[in-house]
Amino acid sequence: MSALTAEQITAGYRGVPVVRGVALHVEAGTTVAIVGPNGAGKSTFLKAIVGLLKGTTGTVRVNGTDVSGWPTPAITRQGLGYVPQVSNVFPSLTVQENLELGCYVSPKLYPVQLPKVLELFPDLRSALRRKGGELSGGQRMMLAIGRALMADPKVLLLDEPTAGLSPLYAQKVWSLIGDVAGSGVGILVVEQNVGMALAGSDWVYVLTGGRNNVDGPAKDMNPVRLGEIFLGAGGGDVAEVRRG
Ligand SMILES: Nc1ncnc2c1ncn2[C@@H]1O[C@H](COP(=O)(O)OP(=O)(O)OP(=O)(O)O)[C@@H](O)[C@H]1O
Ligand SMILES: [Mg+2]
Repeated sequence: MSALTAEQITAGYRGVPVVRGVALHVEAGTTVAIVGPNGAGKSTFLKAIVGLLKGTTGTVRVNGTDVSGWPTPAITRQGLGYVPQVSNVFPSLTVQENLELGCYVSPKLYPVQLPKVLELFPDLRSALRRKGGELSGGQRMMLAIGRALMADPKVLLLDEPTAGLSPLYAQKVWSLIGDVAGSGVGILVVEQNVGMALAGSDWVYVLTGGRNNVDGPAKDMNPVRLGEIFLGAGGGDVAEVRRG
């Protein structure tokens, strides 16, 4: 049983599909990356999985439970955490208040999760009373991930967690992703930087034009061929995309 299974996901905005028939699965304790050009539908796909888009069709299972069509808070309670690409912390609330909101669906998790999250993110401990809006981009991303972890998710969806960060901080985020996966959480991460996606994940899916293009083990993917796919040179099977 996969931690997350999505099948035949079709979703979009105002009745116009952007993502068509996309499928993917994530095993517990592994990191799966989605790469693809701007506008490919990566964020739309994540939003559809967490129940944020009306009219989504297809099946989503979290730890074997079919959550298709469930409201987002119920999906969160089932163990699916989500860090959106933008507006992922409340700027006028303190770090501590942001973390508290992370377990609003199950407040009794707060005293259990807070020490774990602060151990993973020592920077947040010294910033507990600061406002979210006063943090640097990197610290804000740490807070957003920490907030999602407050609900003790089985699967964590991260939409471009390294966007706009310095290479050093981006490495830090990927190293944290490894730590979280190491604790048994399944991670699905959208990453613009193909090199980082290949280095940090177990499996990679390539999304182009709202459809699955190719997927395979990260260690077997050829970055040059992936680049060609991004530029519209079409899809292929994994064998074609293997490192040559
Ligand atoms: N709220 C929205 N309303 C209408 N169309 C939208 C909305 N959000 C995204 N789209 C459209 O859906 C398509 C896919 O967008 P999406 O944000 O999913 O792509 P993406 O792969 O995440 O791109 P990026 O790499 O730039 O983040 C784009 O054509 C975009 O214009
Ligand atoms: Mg996006």
